[in-house]
Formats: sequence, C-alpha cells, structure tokens
Amino acid sequence: MDVRKFDSVEALNQAAAAMIIEAVKETPHLVLGLSTGNSPIGVYQRLIADHRENGTSYKEVTTFNLDEYEGLDENSPQSYRYFMNEQLFDHLDIAKENTHVPSGVGDLAENCKEYERLIEAAGGIGIQLIGIGTNGHIAFNEPGTSFESLTHIADLSQETIDANAKYFPSPGDIPSRAISMGIQSIMNARKVIMVAFGQSKARAVKEMLEGPVSTELPASVLQGHPDAIILLDREAASLLSN
Ligand code: PGA
Repeated sequence: MDVRKFDSVEALNQAAAAMIIEAVKETPHLVLGLSTGNSPIGVYQRLIADHRENGTSYKEVTTFNLDEYEGLDENSPQSYRYFMNEQLFDHLDIAKENTHVPSGVGDLAENCKEYERLIEAAGGIGIQLIGIGTNGHIAFNEPGTSFESLTHIADLSQETIDANAKYFPSPGDIPSRAISMGIQSIMNARKVIMVAFGQSKARAVKEMLEGPVSTELPASVLQGHPDAIILLDREAASLLSN
C-alpha cells in the first residue's frame, strides 16, 4: 500500500482530487467508484471547482457508488442517491444515466445481482474512492463480512448506526439495512484511493495498516490490493508506529 500523510485535510483533498482529475483527463471514459459520507465531500468540491475553472469533462465517465440505505429512494434527502446528485452530479456535465447508485427499493436481492452485472458490463471499476468507518468498515461491509462478498444486503452495525444517525431527523429513522458493494467488489477495482482524516479514524487506520489482515477489520483487506493509495491527515495517522 502507498500511504501518504498530509499536514491538512485541504492538502489531502487536493491530492485525491488531482489523482481523479488526471485520470479523467487521461481516460475520458473512466469508470469511477464513488462514496458518500463526510470523507469525500472536500474531494467533490474540488472536482466541481476544477470542472468550472478548467473544463474537465465527465461526459463519458461512468460512476458506481458503494452503497444505499434500504427503503430510501432518490427523493429522500437521506438517500445516498440524493447526496450524490446534490454534492457532485448536479454540478458536473456527467450524464445522469451513467451514474449508478444501488437501489434500496424494490427487489433488493435482484438489485444486488443487477448492480454487479452493470459493473461488469462497464468493464469494471478503474478507480474506487473510499472512506473508512471508525470500526474499520469499507462501504457497509461491517466486521465479519466475507472477503469474497459481492454486492449484497448488509446489516448495519450499532457503531455505524450511531455514527450516521446525525443525518436523520431522529435517530430511530436510520434504516438498519443497506445494499452495499461487497469486499470482493471493492478489491476488483483496479485502483483504490482511500481518504481518512480526523482523530476518530486513527484506531481503524492503525489496524488497517499495521494489524493482521482479518475480516474483523474489513479495511485490512486492502493490504493485499495491488494499487491502493491511502491518504491520511496528521490526526488519522497519529497512532501509526512510523
Ligand atoms: P464518513 O464515513 O466519511 O462519514 O466518516 C466513512 C465510512 O463510514 O466509510
């Protein structure tokens, strides 16, 4: 793994955005894996600013998001489809039909299979942008999830429910299940860029990089990825041995 430390979150976001922008310029039909939550917002802001200022085009880009809550559709402000439209897609020249977020409504088992079919039909994910949960999860792959998992219906852990409850009108409103790309789906991406910042991520980051590869810390699987770049701020890196 290629681990890079930054003095500020701004510098980290700039570096992650620069990698994606370069890749889109080099490969206009790039298949980009995207994520939600707090971690990628600064990266998205830089992609939008670059698109406005320098005209980098996403017309031919295809995207696949990692996950979606059960029962929430694009009209729900808490859905990840809504988040992506608002935080990124509405501000780029990307074709909406080329943006994919798993559907959390309808026949979920069929939606999972269809999602993997779509990723395969697109030629696989070129670059996957990802965050890490405080419990070491990647997407909604909680501790204990099989490394062989593909897109599946995932039960959220209590730690994840607690961490994400702040985005819902009341804590009881957060769904307890989601559709999530699996660990194997993420490992299939040709390149993975992880962004992690803040003290709350320090323990998970240490275990990911210095602990054993174990399903108990899902992100540790990235130790075996041939092209994983881990971007950390000082706080997220604060427990590392060197
Ligand atoms: P966050 O979540 O970006 O909101 O910190 C990351 C994650 O849970 O994967």
